[in-house]
Amino acid sequence: MKAYQVPLIAGVCLGMVSTGVVANTNPADNAQYEKRFPKQYQSWEKTAESKEATNLLSADPNLVILWAGYGFAKDYKAPRGHQYAITDVRSTLRTGAPMTADEGPMPMACWSCKSPDVPRLIEEEGETGYFKGKWAKGGPEIVNNIGCADCHEPGTSKLRIARPFAERAFAAIGTPFDEAEKSQKQNMVCGQCHVEYYFEKTAEHPNWVKFPWDDGTTVEDMEAYYDKINFTDWTHQISKAPMLKAQHPGYETTAQGIHGEMGISCTDCHMPRVTNAEGKEYTDHNIGSPFDKFEYTCATCHEQTKEQLQSLVQANKDKINALKLKAEDTLVKAHFEAGAAWKAGATEQQMAAALTDIRHAQWRWDYAIASHGIAAHAPEEGLRILETSLVKSTEARDKLAKILAAQGVNTAVVIPDISTEAKAQAVLGMDMKKMRTDKATFIEKVVPKWEAEYKVTNGE
Ligand code: HEC
Ligand code: HEC
Ligand code: HEC
Ligand code: HEC
Repeated sequence: MKAYQVPLIAGVCLGMVSTGVVANTNPADNAQYEKRFPKQYQSWEKTAESKEATNLLSADPNLVILWAGYGFAKDYKAPRGHQYAITDVRSTLRTGAPMTADEGPMPMACWSCKSPDVPRLIEEEGETGYFKGKWAKGGPEIVNNIGCADCHEPGTSKLRIARPFAERAFAAIGTPFDEAEKSQKQNMVCGQCHVEYYFEKTAEHPNWVKFPWDDGTTVEDMEAYYDKINFTDWTHQISKAPMLKAQHPGYETTAQGIHGEMGISCTDCHMPRVTNAEGKEYTDHNIGSPFDKFEYTCATCHEQTKEQLQSLVQANKDKINALKLKAEDTLVKAHFEAGAAWKAGATEQQMAAALTDIRHAQWRWDYAIASHGIAAHAPEEGLRILETSLVKSTEARDKLAKILAAQGVNTAVVIPDISTEAKAQAVLGMDMKKMRTDKATFIEKVVPKWEAEYKVTNGE
């Protein structure tokens, strides 16, 4: 029997007798906090109103080629409200269609930023128990969306870091959570998830989440770290380059921007203090675009109008987008040219330096782009990183041109038609129809079982 189930029964009794509050029940169950913290709960619930999940592969089919051979080429959507975390991790094609607890493709680590059931499980089983096994193993245990116990000591308003791997990372960069100032703590609660991370491949920590921060948190620091430990996420299907996939280093990039440097926290813009109709002040838990509550966010410091600031941010988005497309175009060509060089008989030794350039160029491009909101958080840093990506991919292409010439290929490498998501996936030989059918079966057959099993074991 699980530790919290004993107090669960006692808690129910206590609640009926006196306080009206059910103490010590399943800490991951968000609904139990509604009575006690109605304003925070109800604003948190509103994250469900941010429904739109833009398909980023159809918006920009280059991505399919850049991630060839890796899960992201199957499915990649823009982030939406925290209330969709569980639905989205179940429905993305990246998690596949496991029909049993031991089927892949993904490991348990893939749940780590989705739910307060994750800290609950880690408290029960330790990280060794939690990280063991495939993603499907966690299905009947992880059902609550990102919520109260992800950021708070259960049942209180005290902020906490609910993930030991995040706690270790903050300590590694010099500020353990307990010693941090208020604004740092506010950043750190978001930085449990909005960060760069990877899955360790060591014997002691198979598929544990780790933040690659041991040597610093800039794009160059982390690149050097990954090179030093010889880490690769996957081998590129076309170029055979040893690739890195950046996650979403928003915490790291925001720190590089003007607001981050001044100690303005994520919550100053995304979770402001607001006043309700009865004149009561509280923290707005509807995390979304700061422009939706302009008077409580930007306007507390800036004199410009919402339209003025929005157009400044938009101008930065446009600049970043233009440079991003240039960086992608060069990278896509580099992948196909490397593919052609292999076909023409180039050797590993000949190719090594060009492939390293591709690895670094794509890491930098991805780091900038996957840092959602970088145009608002740190536009100069975004542009700087994309410039260095372009330099590296151009160097890769120069090297590849020499290799191709040495192998007797003197005509330009033809880039196939990748003008839509489907065409790009077809170039890679991906069977999307099968993946979608399998996923539909999984959603229909497996997910309801997970939900039912959770209710039985965790009393929701
Ligand atoms: C993503 C992180 C996060 C989540 C999820 C979250 N909170 Fe908070 N909460 C905060 C932050 C940040 C503050 C501001 C307090 C501070 O900075 O010390 C806060 C403040 C509070 C406070 C103090 C009063 C106030 O309004 O400032 C209460 C009570 C509270 N939260 C309850 C909840 C409840 C209930 C839930 C779940 C429905 C929840 N929180 C979910 C981050 C979070
Ligand atoms: C437990 C992990 C976790 C924590 C903690 C967390 N986030 Fe998130 N956040 C996510 C995930 C996962 C998504 C994407 C959800 C989806 O698309 O299904 C997301 C989405 C978002 C979005 C996009 C919302 C939208 O409507 O488009 C914003 C903004 C955001 N988070 C900001 C924050 C801020 C600010 C904090 C800290 C106060 C925070 N998050 C804490 C995991 C987390
Ligand atoms: C100075 C204010 C400010 C600060 C500080 C800030 N953000 Fe943002 N953030 C924004 C703005 C503005 C946007 C863009 C919103 C829009 O385009 O509507 C944004 C966008 C985002 C997005 C992308 C949402 C999406 O749907 O694409 C995420 C995620 C996010 N922020 C998380 C964070 C995290 C995590 C932190 C702290 C590490 C943080 N932000 C700090 C202002 C801020
Ligand atoms: C807690 C105070 C504070 C908040 C909240 C805040 N800012 Fe700022 N912002 C500053 C300060 C201080 C500066 C730097 C001084 C300056 O250039 O005005 C700055 C600079 C900027 C700049 C850069 C100006 C430049 O010359 O490069 C932009 C753009 C900006 N803020 C937009 C926003 C937006 C959009 C929001 C809301 C999402 C926001 N800020 C929220 C304090 C704040």
